[in-house]
Amino acid sequence: MERTFWYKDAVFYQIWTRSFKDGDGDGVGDLQGVLEKLDYIKSLNVDAIWFSPLYPSPNADYGYDVMDYMDISQEFGGMEIFKKVLDGAHERGMKVIMDLVINHTSDEHPWFQASRRREEPYTDYYIWRQPKRDGMLPNNWDSLFEGKAWQYDDLRKEYYLHLFTIKQPDLNLDNPRVRDEVKKILRFWLDMGVDGFREDVITFISKRENLPNSLLPVVRGITHYSHGPHLHEYLMEFRDVLDRYDCVTIGEAPLLTTGKALEFIGGPRPELDMMITFQYMEGDCFFTEYAPHKFSLRKMKAIWSHWQKALWGKGWNFLYLENHDHPRVISRYGSEKYRVESGKALAASYLFLQGTPIVYQGQELGMTSLRLPKIEDYEDIQTRNHYKLFSTKLSEEEKMERIWKASRDGGRSPLQWDDSENAGFSTAEPWFTVNPNYPQINAAAQEDDEDSLLNYYRLALRLRHELPVVRYGVYREYMPWSDKLYVYERRSKSQRLLVICSYTEEPVAFKAPRGYDLQKGRLILRSHGEEIKDNGFTTQPYESRVYLFQDRRQIVI
Ligand code: GLC
Repeated sequence: MERTFWYKDAVFYQIWTRSFKDGDGDGVGDLQGVLEKLDYIKSLNVDAIWFSPLYPSPNADYGYDVMDYMDISQEFGGMEIFKKVLDGAHERGMKVIMDLVINHTSDEHPWFQASRRREEPYTDYYIWRQPKRDGMLPNNWDSLFEGKAWQYDDLRKEYYLHLFTIKQPDLNLDNPRVRDEVKKILRFWLDMGVDGFREDVITFISKRENLPNSLLPVVRGITHYSHGPHLHEYLMEFRDVLDRYDCVTIGEAPLLTTGKALEFIGGPRPELDMMITFQYMEGDCFFTEYAPHKFSLRKMKAIWSHWQKALWGKGWNFLYLENHDHPRVISRYGSEKYRVESGKALAASYLFLQGTPIVYQGQELGMTSLRLPKIEDYEDIQTRNHYKLFSTKLSEEEKMERIWKASRDGGRSPLQWDDSENAGFSTAEPWFTVNPNYPQINAAAQEDDEDSLLNYYRLALRLRHELPVVRYGVYREYMPWSDKLYVYERRSKSQRLLVICSYTEEPVAFKAPRGYDLQKGRLILRSHGEEIKDNGFTTQPYESRVYLFQDRRQIVI
């Protein structure tokens, strides 16, 4: 199949269905709700939807523990309604991609149940090991979510590996039958008309032979299962299936550098199309939000610039500020006080970079991180388990502050549609707390307000689609030393974009870089005024401006 690389002109929207919109009145977001909101999604000027897992699941990790890869959870409305959503999206010119979670299944998946009983062909579908002679665990690896990475199974009388929760046993991808299952899953959805996959922790699927002990003091094992020995080989096998469809693949990859990313997405026949790097989430922490530091614009800019330059001409970036695994970005990199303004500055900071951007549900409304008083109020298992690891020296208040800054639940509260009860998310009591700021922050309030964040996103995305320079232009950063302004340019033969974003409430004197005459530019996107003085301006709090300079002799668009 001839590939069109449609994703390079696309903007994605991520739906974490449980919190998007409840259509059947049981308090849980579902596909009926999505169906009702397809016009809203289209109105954002996005071109594709990525659904976090929709498969049947006991929800130990909200869908990332899959019980059946070829069905849609009844909680979300089942297969029939999914097909309606798929058709409805396609009719509106939007693609749909699924989440492919193949590093692990749920322990309630029939494969695992059969594997426990050593029923063929499932005996070696998972990574089973005998206890060591002295009764010790097979090795010293840690799970990322829940204690040690091994759990003893009474029935089989062996340990199984689980890199995430106890209820997420790791699949044994070294078994060719398991890889055949993956290929079947790919074909199943692609034949149905789905347009691709976001591949969950895909760089973990090949573990080092003999599962050696780890010498690292923390996150033991990660160097032995991240980027393992057969990873590229297995992905190439999947590529043989994918190549028969004009689809996209996006690989999620913890600990990813640009060099590593290019191993997957560079070269003549890339295994995957784009990679999700966690570095974009490191503007205020070291590797994880549980190791926080003060937000550093300079660090963030260096990361953005590095990915722009390193992938230039070699690979395609996947751009994001939020997803279901992180607190809301305004509460982290922006300012809740200048919520709308900083939301706009953040949007302009990434929407004009080269790559394919994704907007996470509610990001376009400037939703902030949900803050809950007690650990029991949080639903996410990673959050609850991290809380247990906090030093006893911390006060309860300090612990809850850290949880607020780090918890994935911060970004998982129900979408705020309007100011009616439950934020218009559901007529029943929602499965999770609605952020109490919904009377002020909601979609309805922003719909007709020209200056709203919602309409800023819409305009920014429209401009992205209209301006070829966003796809092709060369990236250049100005003032990299500034810890207050992010200024960058995209330049093609006939167009130049100059993006200026302030990350402070203080006034900053900005002067256009050499070669620019602001008076000759068109201010195509702005958060505040238009005044120019001495070829520059003094910024308002978190001000953002995007100027377009066009060579009129050339025909553009
Ligand atoms: C990915 C998902 C996350 C999930 C984990 C295990 O990081 O984004 O939500 O918990 O993988 O599947």
